[in-house]
Amino acid sequence: MNVETLRWKGGIDGTLEMIDQTLLPTERVVLEFSCGQVEKVWEAIKKLRVRGAPAIGIAAGYGVCIGMQTVLDADKTTFFARFDEVTAYLATSRPTAVNLFWVLDRMKTLGDCLKRLENFDSRRAAQGLLDEARKIHEDDRAICHAIGDFGQALIPDGAGVLTHCNAGGLATSEYGTALSVFAKAFEAGKKIHVYADETRPLLQGARLTTWEMRERGIPVTLICDSMAAQVMREGKIQAVVVGADRITANGDTANKIGTYSVACLAYLHQIPFYVAAPKSTFDLTLSSGDQIPIEQRDPEEVTCGMGRRTAPDGIDVYNPAFDVTPARYIRGIITEKGVVSPVTEENIRKIF
Ligand code: MRU
Repeated sequence: MNVETLRWKGGIDGTLEMIDQTLLPTERVVLEFSCGQVEKVWEAIKKLRVRGAPAIGIAAGYGVCIGMQTVLDADKTTFFARFDEVTAYLATSRPTAVNLFWVLDRMKTLGDCLKRLENFDSRRAAQGLLDEARKIHEDDRAICHAIGDFGQALIPDGAGVLTHCNAGGLATSEYGTALSVFAKAFEAGKKIHVYADETRPLLQGARLTTWEMRERGIPVTLICDSMAAQVMREGKIQAVVVGADRITANGDTANKIGTYSVACLAYLHQIPFYVAAPKSTFDLTLSSGDQIPIEQRDPEEVTCGMGRRTAPDGIDVYNPAFDVTPARYIRGIITEKGVVSPVTEENIRKIF
């Protein structure tokens, strides 16, 4: 079973289909975005209807194409004014996952080439942008498979493996990063058992990771975030694998809030802690994790997270969506080019 969280239907005047992840696992609703609805794509990214670093990037690529549908027959000046507006606007949706900016930069690089073409044709230019968005999407499938293949070799037969948040097919083109490692180990005949942290406040682990693992027939047990130490102490975990939203030049890694605690616990219990991520998640312009912009989200996600108020009205809340795990706690970073280990700036630069 492959989860396809995003799908483009048709040509330059086509539509973008997206599974609304906020409704999973109880409802599987496919949203459709059509002519010019770039604000709706922005809202879907902001509200986590589509989420996970690679999927956010892919959605932004298609979001550009949706935005450009209002100028398919425009002159060159109007076309590129709209292009600049749409790309700048989508960049304001979420700040931490660098894949969003990586995709928008790729679209802008192509836009610069198109700008220089003689005999400008708006439909041909829009087709070029759509081809690029589709290529980013297609490339991600192969990347996820490669990450899984490299990563599964690190997972012992019979292992209990823990993950935090959701770095699966829903968060990418179809197979995932951390969850691709588990899927490939399982397909290779290894008897693994996945422990999924529920991942407060938005429960990506409980709602999405357990759902994906069950769809693939991989044994999975859900735990509250606060239980990770105990299951490690009981000897149930032989490896931890998580995804990433941004990795800096020295290997510091931003991922879903709570990842840092899991990394510290793994370190204390001498359990290998791996990050699985594509090259597009690296931001070599930043030297360390202190420079990563951390998204702050609505306090209501903490006080009313499960549709019911669980804290007094008006209480002060701190709600960072991500934290940074220092490179020294990471045994290896599993990429489509192989495993970076030990995690040093020198070894990271070798894969680029
Ligand atoms: O806020 P989210 O749900 O977008 O956060 C997602 C994560 O932190 C994932 O672990 C990360 O993006 C990697 S997805 C392959």
